[in-house]
Amino acid sequence: SPRIGVMTSGGDAQGMNAAVRSIVRSGIHQGAEVYAIYEGWQGAIAGGEHIRHLGWSDVSGILNKGGTVIGTARSAEFRTREGQLKAVENLVHNGIDRLIVIGGDGSLTGTRALCLGWPAYVEELVTTGRITAEQAAAHPHLNIAGMVGSIDNDMVGTDMTIGTDSAMHRITEAIDAISSTAESHRRTFIVEVMGRHCGYLALMTAIAGGADYTFLPESPPRPGWEDRMVEVLGRGRAAGRRDSIILVSEGAADREGEPITAQRIQAALRDRTGEEARITILGHVQRGGTPSAYDRWMATVCGAEAVRQVLSADAQSEPMLVGVRRDMVNTTPLLAAVEATHRIGDFVNEGDYEAAIHARGVGFTT
Ligand code: F6P
Repeated sequence: SPRIGVMTSGGDAQGMNAAVRSIVRSGIHQGAEVYAIYEGWQGAIAGGEHIRHLGWSDVSGILNKGGTVIGTARSAEFRTREGQLKAVENLVHNGIDRLIVIGGDGSLTGTRALCLGWPAYVEELVTTGRITAEQAAAHPHLNIAGMVGSIDNDMVGTDMTIGTDSAMHRITEAIDAISSTAESHRRTFIVEVMGRHCGYLALMTAIAGGADYTFLPESPPRPGWEDRMVEVLGRGRAAGRRDSIILVSEGAADREGEPITAQRIQAALRDRTGEEARITILGHVQRGGTPSAYDRWMATVCGAEAVRQVLSADAQSEPMLVGVRRDMVNTTPLLAAVEATHRIGDFVNEGDYEAAIHARGVGFTT
C-alpha cells in the first residue's frame, strides 16, 4: 500500500494536531500507511527513530491539544544541499513516496526546493551508492501536498492558515483583560502581537478588540504619526473613554524602515503627554493553548483533502497547497503560492503597499 509521510515544520500552531489526526485516519480509510516524520525536516534529515508508523489509535486524544505531538523544528540544515540530500535518502529508505507538510512559509519554501531538486538528488544518491538503482526507479519523484500551519496568516492560496483563528481568540481575550485594568487606572496600554511581516493578526484583533490605534507592516504611517496618534487617543478620552489600547504588529515600521516598537510608541506618548503607557508583549501565549473550533474544523477537512491529493497524484502532478477559500476546501499549485507569497514581500520592500495588499487579497480589501 502507498506510504504517506506527514510532518509539522517551522513554528507550531494550534490545530496542527487536528491536521495530523485527520491525515492519519483519512490515509488509513483510503488504504494507505501513514508515517510520522518527527521534528519536521530535521527529523527527515536524522532518519532512524524519527520516522515512525502511526495507527488509528496513535492519534486519539490529540484533536483538542495545542502545539504538535509529532514535534517541529526550524531546520537550518534543511536549507543546505547536503541536508536536503540526507532527507531524500531517508524518505527513499523508508519507502515514502508521498508527503504532506504542515508548515509555514519557510517550511513550504524548503519543501518546494526539495521537490524541484528531487530527480538530481536521487541521481546523486545512486551514483554515490547511498541508494540502489531499484530504489531510485521506485521513487522517480515525490508527490507532495502542503498545508499552511502558522498563526501569521501570511500565505497566498488560503484564506486562513491553521492557528490564526486560535491566536486571534487568545489576543482578543488578552485585550479584554488588559482593558479592564487600563480602564480602572485610566491608562494607555501598548500591546505587541506576533505576525512576523504580516499585519493580519494585528488588524483583525484591533477590530475585534476595539483598539484605539494600530501599527501594521503593510501600512507604514506618514511622518508626524506620533502627533496624529496622540490626537486620536485624546478624542477617545474626550468622548469619555477611560482606557486607550494601541496594538502594534511586531513587524511594523515607518516609511524609512525604522521599526515602530512598543518602546518607541511609549516614548512618543511620554514626550507629548507625559503619560507613562504600559507595555504588554503577548509573545508565545498567542501560539499556545487549545485550538479553536474553526482551526480544528479547517485542519481536519484540509487534512482529508491533502491525503486525497497525494494518493491521486501521478508523475505529472504538481505539488498542491491545500487550504480554504470562502469556507470551501481549495487547492492551489504549491510552487505558484510560494512565489506569490514572496512577491508580497518584494512589494513591501519596494514600498508598494497597495500592490502588497491586493496580492494577498484577503482581509484588508473587500
Ligand atoms: O511564524 C510564527 C511566529 O510566531 C511569528 O509570528 C513570530 O515572529 C515567530 O514565529 C517567532 O518565532 P520563534 O517561535 O522561533 O521565536
